[in-house]
Amino acid sequence: TVAPEIVSLGDHERRAAEVLDAKAWAYFSGGAADERCLQANHNAWDALALWPRVLRPLAEGHTRTQLLGQEYAHPLLVAPMAFQRLAHADGELASAYAAAALGAGFTLSTQASLPLELPARAVLGTAGRGPLWFQLYLQHDRGFTRELLQRVESAGYEALVLTVDAPVSGVRDRERRAGFRLPAGISAVNLQGLASAPLPTDGALCAGLLRHAPTWDDLAWLQGETRLPVLLKGIMHPKDALQAACLQAAGIIVSNHGGRTLDSAPPTAVALARVAKALRSAGHTLPVLVDGGIRRGTDVLKAMALGASAVMVGRPIVWGLANAGAAGVAHVLRLLRDELEVAMALTGCATLADATPELLDT
Ligand code: FNR
Repeated sequence: TVAPEIVSLGDHERRAAEVLDAKAWAYFSGGAADERCLQANHNAWDALALWPRVLRPLAEGHTRTQLLGQEYAHPLLVAPMAFQRLAHADGELASAYAAAALGAGFTLSTQASLPLELPARAVLGTAGRGPLWFQLYLQHDRGFTRELLQRVESAGYEALVLTVDAPVSGVRDRERRAGFRLPAGISAVNLQGLASAPLPTDGALCAGLLRHAPTWDDLAWLQGETRLPVLLKGIMHPKDALQAACLQAAGIIVSNHGGRTLDSAPPTAVALARVAKALRSAGHTLPVLVDGGIRRGTDVLKAMALGASAVMVGRPIVWGLANAGAAGVAHVLRLLRDELEVAMALTGCATLADATPELLDT
């Protein structure tokens, strides 16, 4: 169970830092290089102020949200995160179960530490659950990817989240300093049997790994291989957002991978505003989600005011998991949702449709 003095996501973070061993802590909490992007994500939400509004009718208010044609109780989803068994023995099973119980969405990482069928089974039977999505890293071996997609579809996942911002891993100084390596017994089990990508001939990235890096053409290939809607995760530039919309992406997730890939990338709150504006001006209506540094219900409301349809939460889920397994994850999601409702009430928003840019001091 969760200790009674833990009442915010920040409290979960401080406790998780004590509970997790130093290497796992470095892996989960770190960002790329000097962690400027990681810090900037937080600073950008902080820099936005919400204008209180008073005496507006709030009766029958709610946090209900539409996403890909379905209605959900609120706009929170769990972001895909690899190797969650590093945080707790129950790993992704516990996060998926807690998300479903709280009506939140859940996205399983390609690099999950449990077979993808297990969390799906935990989620699908739960009344009032949120969406169940699978995050895909396109593999150089197309036959393998096809088989993986078949498993994902039969397991009951409802959409694919194609992550496009990590053709290479970022420069992870904090992990290297801590000497982080995956312990025995924890691995990307859903990629078992995948031959490793051909090795670089001369040690240069462009000669090896990047020859197989996905391109816009691969999006069409993927859309042709699956009946599931495909969202793109890791879009930051408005021009990339427009291209994604033109190529019939089912949605985009404005994300800089939680500051773990390109250090010095702009914060997601800034990118979201520009992406939402560009899409609106061009007449596109696809859903735009955002993640990166969302730690308070007020951050969620700010994201909705900037044009997000829903938000994803990353690291706080792992902190909850480390602190109390499924109960910890449920607690994190409950806190965020409660805080969102308080923020809505104090800004005069009866529903999330009332969360417009007018709320913000930009
Ligand atoms: C991630 N993220 C990530 N994204 C993805 O598409 N596939 C993945 O396997 C992972 N793995 C992963 C592991 C860990 C430990 C972290 C912290 C993050 C990125 C993740 O989905 C999300 O974009 C960010 O975590 C959001 O930022 P916050 O909420 O952590 O600040």
